[in-house]
Amino acid sequence: MPHPVPHPVPHPVELRAVSRRYGTGERAVTALDQVTLDFAEGTMTAVMGPSGSGKSTLLHCAAGLDRPTAGRVVIGGTETGELDETALTLLRRERIGFVFQSFNLVSALTAEQNVALPLRLAGHRPDPAQVAAALAEVGLADRAGHRPDRLSGGQQQRVAIARALITRPAVLFADEPTGALDITTSRTVLGLLRGLVDRHRQTLVMVTHDPAAAGWADRVVFLADGRIADEMADRPGAAAIASRMSVLEAAA
Ligand SMILES: Nc1ncnc2c1ncn2[C@@H]1O[C@H](COP(=O)(O)OP(=O)(O)OP(=O)(O)O)[C@@H](O)[C@H]1O
Ligand SMILES: [Mg+2]
Repeated sequence: MPHPVPHPVPHPVELRAVSRRYGTGERAVTALDQVTLDFAEGTMTAVMGPSGSGKSTLLHCAAGLDRPTAGRVVIGGTETGELDETALTLLRRERIGFVFQSFNLVSALTAEQNVALPLRLAGHRPDPAQVAAALAEVGLADRAGHRPDRLSGGQQQRVAIARALITRPAVLFADEPTGALDITTSRTVLGLLRGLVDRHRQTLVMVTHDPAAAGWADRVVFLADGRIADEMADRPGAAAIASRMSVLEAAA
């Protein structure tokens, strides 16, 4: 009997020569320039680089929030370029979680209502036990009935993380998730994110300016002028990341 040919398991997200240009003519900006990257399952990747280097653009393209002007983004084996807006929205709802620097909670809704929102948007009736478990996972079981204005910044970001995880996304993207938090609160949020990777094999991609935050990641990708300028693997640690950053900044 011939051996079955092993089916290659696609990475949760694959980018192939992805470019994103804004505008046309003389004013055109190339925010991303032929970026090829994979995000492997159960790993945490930090994306670093100077302001304007294309980090947010990279995240938005990889998450299906924005479309590249050239190249391919493959989410869970699906070519996103072949999907219309509705199909892309459905794929994103099903497979992608996104956390923003500014939390983006709905101010009129309680923590548990915010967490349940993605399920409602997908047309499901939220299971209260599932919502409670998500809040417990981020350490906020006792804050379920609080509105965002009665929560600290770190607590709001933890609600936003619970909301992003409620659909059990294949990939969680976070754009400077600790950018608005102090050092102690940042550490709590980063420990939470790292725990999701270690305990649930969550795939996580995080933009950060902070070498200490990137020090929690397994891999660091450095962008400059929309291109990959460098990469460090094997959980390089904050000190090594900081010195690599200063070399890259000196070269810029
Ligand atoms: N909607 C847009 N229209 C025009 N240009 C844009 C748009 N969004 C981003 N850009 C440009 O693309 C480039 C990359 O922007 P991006 O937001 O990805 O950078 P970033 O690395 O996330 O920066 P920061 O660290 O400041 O958040 C910048 O030159 C920016 O001005
Ligand atoms: Mg940005």
